[in-house]
Amino acid sequence: MTAPVDLVTTRDEWRCRLDDARSAGKQVGLVPTMGSLHAGHLSLIRRAAAEVDVVAVTDYVNPLQFGEAQDLAAYPRDVPADRKLAAEAGAGLLFAPSVEEMWPEPGATTVSVSGIAGDWEGAARPGHFDGVATIVAKLFSLSGPSWAYFGEKDWQQLAVIRRMTADLSLPVAIVGCPTVRDPDGLALSSRNARLTPAERAVAPKLYWSLLAGKRAIEDDHVEEPAEVVARISARLAEEPLFTLEYAAAVDPESLETPAQFSREVRLLIAARLGRTRLIDNVAVTVPAPDEEP
Ligand code: PAF
Repeated sequence: MTAPVDLVTTRDEWRCRLDDARSAGKQVGLVPTMGSLHAGHLSLIRRAAAEVDVVAVTDYVNPLQFGEAQDLAAYPRDVPADRKLAAEAGAGLLFAPSVEEMWPEPGATTVSVSGIAGDWEGAARPGHFDGVATIVAKLFSLSGPSWAYFGEKDWQQLAVIRRMTADLSLPVAIVGCPTVRDPDGLALSSRNARLTPAERAVAPKLYWSLLAGKRAIEDDHVEEPAEVVARISARLAEEPLFTLEYAAAVDPESLETPAQFSREVRLLIAARLGRTRLIDNVAVTVPAPDEEP
């Protein structure tokens, strides 16, 4: 059995351990998480382990990115289980500081990315991306990674982090990794644990609705973003347990709805299923004119 990964709980020790690794000529890969590791996180750790010398995983439920105190309180936490899982996937170190350790006094600095952070999740959860960008910038500063790994499941988050890293010339390469799904299509998320059995049974319909949008573009050659969104929304509306928050067909980098599709499109969706809010997205490549019938 693999021994649990080394647990670090203070910023000073974390910085020292990673400084030592870099001084020994090792390259550090960072996998920022909020813990409750599932197969999606483990795929990021495995990818990092295949590419870098030291995989540094952070396990910190970041209060700055939660709007509702209830949502923060309900967020699952299990550091002992995370230590074992992270080690099995190839992590070298796990950083699980307390909020007081991260912020000995309330922070006065916010990293705020405008434009791509404004719509979709940004509009549904005001302040969310400021909280994400601020903590990710702080984790980069504490960890000094050459690479940092994030899941594509949170597509807009990935775009915001890429933009922040480019704008601030942070010396880290951002690696986006494919969404991991259950066999029925549901994207893995720590929030799935909150679904009732009845909700879990219908939850994959979120993904299936996105696939209806993908088929509209790829097979039916729908060219209007609004029509694609209508198809996604109609498909989700067939399941009464869901309440749609938004569906969108956007440019994958700017996150804007184009007047006309270019070659690559990202379909986004967010919906409530009982007490749980779920998001998902898929990539679509628009058929070239000579691929059309
Ligand atoms: O995706 C997450 O788990 C979080 O948003 C992140 C990137 C670890 C920042 O807290």
